[in-house]
Amino acid sequence: MNKLDKVITDCRKNDGGFIMTNFDQKLPQFPEPYWLDSTSIPNFQKLEENIETSIAIVGGGITGITAAYLLSQQGIAVTLIEAGQILTGTTGHTTAKITAQHGLIYDELIQQHGEDTAKLYYEANQEALELIKELIDKHSIECDFSHQDAYIYGSMETSVRQIKKELLAYQRLGIPGDFTDTIPFSIPCQAALIMKDQAQFHPLKYLTALIPPILEKGGVIYEKTTALKVEDNEETTILLENGYRISCNSVIVASHFPFNDELGLYFARMHAERSYVIAIKAEKDYPNGMYYSADTPTRSLRYTEMNGEKLILIGGESHKPGQGIPTHEHYLALQDFCEQYLGIKEIPYRWSAQDMITPDKLPFVGPATAGHPNVLIATGYKKWGMTTGTIAAKVLTDFILRKENRYADLYKPSRLKGLGNIVKDNIDVAKHLIEGKLEFIIKTPEDLANDEGDIVLINGKRAGCYRDQDGQLHQVDSTCTHMGCEVNWNSGERTWDCPCHGSRYSIDGEVLEGPSVEPLRKVTNE
Ligand SMILES: Cc1cc2nc3c(=O)[nH]c(=O)nc-3n(C[C@H](O)[C@H](O)[C@H](O)COP(=O)(O)OP(=O)(O)OC[C@H]3O[C@@H](n4cnc5c(N)ncnc54)[C@H](O)[C@@H]3O)c2cc1C
Ligand code: FES
Repeated sequence: MNKLDKVITDCRKNDGGFIMTNFDQKLPQFPEPYWLDSTSIPNFQKLEENIETSIAIVGGGITGITAAYLLSQQGIAVTLIEAGQILTGTTGHTTAKITAQHGLIYDELIQQHGEDTAKLYYEANQEALELIKELIDKHSIECDFSHQDAYIYGSMETSVRQIKKELLAYQRLGIPGDFTDTIPFSIPCQAALIMKDQAQFHPLKYLTALIPPILEKGGVIYEKTTALKVEDNEETTILLENGYRISCNSVIVASHFPFNDELGLYFARMHAERSYVIAIKAEKDYPNGMYYSADTPTRSLRYTEMNGEKLILIGGESHKPGQGIPTHEHYLALQDFCEQYLGIKEIPYRWSAQDMITPDKLPFVGPATAGHPNVLIATGYKKWGMTTGTIAAKVLTDFILRKENRYADLYKPSRLKGLGNIVKDNIDVAKHLIEGKLEFIIKTPEDLANDEGDIVLINGKRAGCYRDQDGQLHQVDSTCTHMGCEVNWNSGERTWDCPCHGSRYSIDGEVLEGPSVEPLRKVTNE
C-alpha cells in the first residue's frame, strides 16, 4: 500500500466509509489502481545501520527495479532503497502500454532535433519493448503481456493534419505504420495512425517477478528508507532520513523526481503533470488495440483481463498538480466519455498519478551534474516510462559497466544547459507564488462539511483544513516546504498539492511526492 492509500485507508477504517459529497455514485469512493489490488508485492525491512555497497539505487519503480535486475545479473552488488513500499509510486498507477508510439512525437522530434535523433528515439523505445519481452520469456513471467497495435486517432481538423504529418515522419524514419480513417468505436475519428505490434502488460506482475533473480544474485532491498542527500566527494555517500549512511561507488537516483536536486537544476527545468484513470466493465465490446487521441481532451484506452472479463482503462485529463478545476471533476469527465462511447456496467477502480515533463520532451538519463559521474539520474519520462524507464535502466547499467550505449547521448542531462523552458516554467512558479499569497480567504473551518477540504482562515492566517468523516479537523500550514508556494486542495485524492513543482502532502501534511522532503507544518487554533 502506498503512503497515500494508507492515509485514506486509515481515515476510512474508523466507520467503514466517508460521507461522500463529491463523487458520482458510479465512481469508487477511494482511489486504488487495479495493478496494486491484483498483485502480491513482497515487503522488505528498513535499513537501520550504515552499509557499503557497490551500486545504491534510490527508488523502487520500474527504473530502479529494472536497473537492480540488470546490474545484479552482471554480478554487481546492488542495494535498492525505497521511501515507502516498492512499486507503489507512479509505476503502480500507470496504464502500462509498452509502446514507441508516444502520442504525436516523431514529426516534432524531426523538427526540433533532426531525423537521426528522432530515429534513435524510436529505436530506444522499440529496444525497451524487446528487452521487456526477453525478460518475460527468460523468466516465464505471467504478466498478461500481449502484442497490440497502438493507434493515435483524431477527428478535429488540426489533429487530422498532425496525424498526416506524423505519417510522413514515420515514412521518413522507416517506422512501420498504417493509416486508416476508422477505429472500431463510435468515438469520432477522421484519421488514425497505427503502429503495429506494440504491447501491453500488467506492470506489477512483471516487476515483482524480477525481484527473486535480484535477491538470488545477492541484491538487497530496503523499504521505509528515505534518502535525503547525496554527498559525492572522496567517496559517494547517501544520507538517510534516519541518520544512517550508504557508502557506494555510484548511486542511481530513480526516485521519479530526483531527490538530490539541491542546485535546483531539475525542478526549474521540468514540470509535473497529473492525469486520471478509470477502469470500467463496459456494456459494449472492446476490440483489441491501444488507443490515444490526438484531439483534446486527450483520451487513452487499453484493456486488461480481470477474472476472464475485459477491464477497460480510460485515461486522460492532464493538468499541472495543484492547478485547475476541482480534481474529482476530472474523474467525472472520464466517466461521461465512457458513458457516451462504451456504456458503463461497473467502475471497479479509479486512480491518478503524475509524471515529469522536460522542455525538449526527451528524458534526462545519466550523470546529474558535470564532474560527478558517480551520481546518475533517470527522470522526465513524459508519461511513457514503461519503455523509457526500461531503456534508462539499460543506459545506466552500461554506463556503470563502462560499455558503449548508443542512446547515452540522446538522453544525457548535460544538454539541459541549452534548454530554454526554464524561463517559462519559472514565470509560472512566480505567478503561483504571488497569487497564492494574495488570495482573499473568507472561509473558516466551521464552513467545511464532512469530507471537505479547503483553504481557510485560522487566527487570521491562511491554512489548509480538511474535515474528515467524523467531523475531525486536520489543519496544516498551506505553505509548501519546498520553495514556499501555497498548496491547494485535491478533492479527488484528498491531498494538498503544490502548483509550483508538484509536491503533494497527505491531510496531515506528510510528504507523498517530492521535490519536498519536509512535511507541512501543523496549525493549531491557539
Ligand atoms: C496516469 C499515468 C498513466 C501512464 N501510462 C503510461 C503508459 O501507458 N505507458 C508508459 O510507458 N508510461 C505510462 N506512464 C508513465 C510511467 O508510469 C512512469 O513514467 C513510470 O512509472 C515512472 O517510473 P519511475 O521508476 O521513474 O518512478 P516511480 O514508479 O514513481 O518510482 C520512484 C520511487 O522512488 C521512491 N522515492 C522517491 N523519493 C525517494 C527518496 N528520497 N528515497 C527513497 N525512495 C524514494 C518513490 O516512493 C517511488 O516508489 C503513465 C503515467 C501516469 C501518471
Ligand atoms: S514550491 Fe516547489 S513543490 Fe511546492
